[in-house]
Amino acid sequence: MKKFFSVEDVISVYDIIKEAIFLKKNPYEFQHIGKNKTIGLVFFNPSLRTRISCQKAAFNLGCNTWILDIHKDSWKIEMNDGSVMKMTQEHIKEAISVMSIYCDILAVRTFPNLFDKNYDYKEVIFNKILKYSRVPVVNMESATLHPLQSLADVMTIAEYTSLFRKRCKVVLSWAPHINPLPHSVANSFSQWISKIDKIDFTITCPERYDLHKKFSNGIYTTYNQNEAFINADFIYAKNWSSYLDYGKIFCTNYDWMITENKMKLTNKAKFMHCLPVRRNVVVEDAVLDSKYSIVLQQAENRIYASQIIFLKIIQSLL
Ligand code: CP
Repeated sequence: MKKFFSVEDVISVYDIIKEAIFLKKNPYEFQHIGKNKTIGLVFFNPSLRTRISCQKAAFNLGCNTWILDIHKDSWKIEMNDGSVMKMTQEHIKEAISVMSIYCDILAVRTFPNLFDKNYDYKEVIFNKILKYSRVPVVNMESATLHPLQSLADVMTIAEYTSLFRKRCKVVLSWAPHINPLPHSVANSFSQWISKIDKIDFTITCPERYDLHKKFSNGIYTTYNQNEAFINADFIYAKNWSSYLDYGKIFCTNYDWMITENKMKLTNKAKFMHCLPVRRNVVVEDAVLDSKYSIVLQQAENRIYASQIIFLKIIQSLL
């Protein structure tokens, strides 16, 4: 594997899930493969899980890591070409090139601006990172995608369905939030789930919150949350801002919060969320604290999702 930007960089989703599950059972199987290899972790935006799970994954492979929080620790980075840099100190061209000299794999997180749809959906920033890096790049969440999260999510579903041998209904449900949030988790989850047979996948969201067609084409989408929940085996809750009215939020309708009563419509569904989650805004305490909540398992699987991706890239460097 030469880079990991999206599910399209994976040859077989089934195989990568199986291999991630193997690593969960045997985390130190490849503990020497990363000797003298360094993974650089660069954050343009905050993180708890991604940052620590990637560090842990690198450690399990015997790699060194360094971390840079751009806005906290570094110079102000100029993203635009041809700028007269009176307000910014360093151009992304030099910044990424230099950082890539200091590591063997460069993992980067950079969120969307949520006001320029074309700019975000063309992945302008991440494409510059791919262009200027001299080493393989891993997407730790870009403007439109969060593939390490999605790999951990499908791995979690695989663990409950004997590797998808049991047919199941998965529902991605929009849930309320007070801020406009990126689409990356919802887009990416839809993209990964669509690669797996034996999953009946439904998206439910308020009107004007449909995801971009590229990610939702052919997926049954309903504006009726209760209807979607009937007989569901997995409820994945996530807020996202509007794609149509880009980055806007008009529905702070708490009727869409995931509640114990709504979960009763399901087939004793597991509750999923990528975290961080706002309690009693996105989901009721009663759901998050119930035995059906598998959010911590998802967070744990972030380690092995990152580990299998780093492993594949290191193997391609040897
Ligand atoms: N789910 C996730 O990516 O969490 P962080 O933003 O804390 O990394």
